[in-house]
Amino acid sequence: MKQDRILVTGAGGQIGQVLCQALAVRHGASNILATDIRAIPSWQGAFARLDVLDAPSLTELTREWGATQIYHLAAILSAAGEKDPLRTWQINMDGFLHVMETALQLSVSRVFHPSSIAAFGAGIDLDRAGQHVPLIPATVYGITKVAGENWSYYYHQRYGLDIRSLRYPGIVGHQSDPGGGTTDYAVDIYHYAVQGKPFRCFLAEDTRLPMIYMDDAIRATLALMDAPAGNIRVRTSYNLGGMDFSPEEIAASIRKEIPGFEITYAPDHRQQIAAGWPRRIDDSAAREDWGWKPEFDLDAMTRDMIRHLSLRYSPQPQS
Ligand code: SER
Repeated sequence: MKQDRILVTGAGGQIGQVLCQALAVRHGASNILATDIRAIPSWQGAFARLDVLDAPSLTELTREWGATQIYHLAAILSAAGEKDPLRTWQINMDGFLHVMETALQLSVSRVFHPSSIAAFGAGIDLDRAGQHVPLIPATVYGITKVAGENWSYYYHQRYGLDIRSLRYPGIVGHQSDPGGGTTDYAVDIYHYAVQGKPFRCFLAEDTRLPMIYMDDAIRATLALMDAPAGNIRVRTSYNLGGMDFSPEEIAASIRKEIPGFEITYAPDHRQQIAAGWPRRIDDSAAREDWGWKPEFDLDAMTRDMIRHLSLRYSPQPQS
């Protein structure tokens, strides 16, 4: 079988940093090209500076690298996106279309594009967001995800492009920091807890959201991309489930490990975004089509996060 050559956009982001390492293990580090608008200190492999709005450079890099797969992760997230909706639309959509056109032009065999729980919104049962339901988001980020899903479907139907997608829940991991999302609190909270600091949460205590541990999110991404094309029956984007919890539940989980942990609540503009998102999602299509099954629940994630972050924050031994 021919060795895949992989190009990742937005490789310095929360998912990208971890995904590149996993792709390096899977495909060999010398076959991964990480791209981003800024350098990625954690990445030792091949890197190119790339702004996804620069279509000629994107195409040229893809050609030079001989990419057979593209993981297009560059995007502005939900909360940050609301500060400049038109700019968010431009970066998220133009960047995506440049990737699609490049993939077509250079016969890239497989593309990954993340969608999100932010694609959901009005008119559905937020207690169990289904796979095929109306998508009426309330953020520009969500609008770009819905549009991206429809473009993916279109490119697959019209040109046979093998593009695959997941509607990620909030992603929690110790390896990298999120930037500008509504679910970021669920990462930040562990950093405060491990350092013995009280945490001020920007969502209300009972705001339930679907979440997933980074290890599961990466495993799902690789499983989706490895699945035979015939198994991929959803060509918009698959619902992906991991767990769901509220700020008071994650705090309770942390207290099982760090009993003195303190949390206060000061909901801000992100509360309204979270309130429009599903509390739970139905990922049965992913389970049926390519065997999805998460491994981490809330307490398992908490133990793993605290173990890793404790090592990071513990004083280094003097030599
Ligand atoms: N985690 C993302 C955000 O909060 C959702 O896709 O914006």
